[in-house]
Amino acid sequence: MSHLFIEKDRRYPTLLLLHGTGGDEHSLVELATSLAPNASLLAIRGKVSEGGANRYFRRFAEGQFDLVDLEKQSDELLKEINELAEKYQLDRSEMIILGYSNGANIGAHLMLERADSFRRGLLFHPMSLGKHTQQFSLSESKVWLSYGELDPIVPQETFAELVQVFEARAAAVSVYQAPMSHGLTRDELLAAQKWLEELM
Ligand code: MLT
Repeated sequence: MSHLFIEKDRRYPTLLLLHGTGGDEHSLVELATSLAPNASLLAIRGKVSEGGANRYFRRFAEGQFDLVDLEKQSDELLKEINELAEKYQLDRSEMIILGYSNGANIGAHLMLERADSFRRGLLFHPMSLGKHTQQFSLSESKVWLSYGELDPIVPQETFAELVQVFEARAAAVSVYQAPMSHGLTRDELLAAQKWLEELM
């Protein structure tokens, strides 16, 4: 997997950057730097290609996910992150996911379905992938999720389902919702920054 590591102040948790469909390891660097200038960044490129567009797991069509591939890719992504954490001497358990769209979706899946993964996530425009098999408590987890009321990619009910799953498992959940589409807005980024500042 191609990746990028940018070292900053090691007293801060590392942000794990997971891009949207068609992005790469560089896509979220500027955004992450503006949200948390002191945090080191570990960015990983999705290794599934959809007609040349990088993703983290396969899908058959918009909103129709390959759930078998999702599990395989989730395991491989976590393994890769563990190896990179060791290589760069990073505290993996303290990492904060910063994911957008497809990257937010696999980030949420790791938090919900892999007990030994991540406890904090900043998830821009995620949705439920419809596969919930675990019940371990998320009472130590904190998650921030944004939703665009005019988003043609994320149906309202799949966003609501994702929020409900986090809440049902006792995670501390913050939702930012606005009449926006799938792109990021300035107000959304300000809200995300505030949440991140309180966390770090
Ligand atoms: C996905 O496939 O994960 C979602 O549809 C978001 C996206 O289009 O990347």
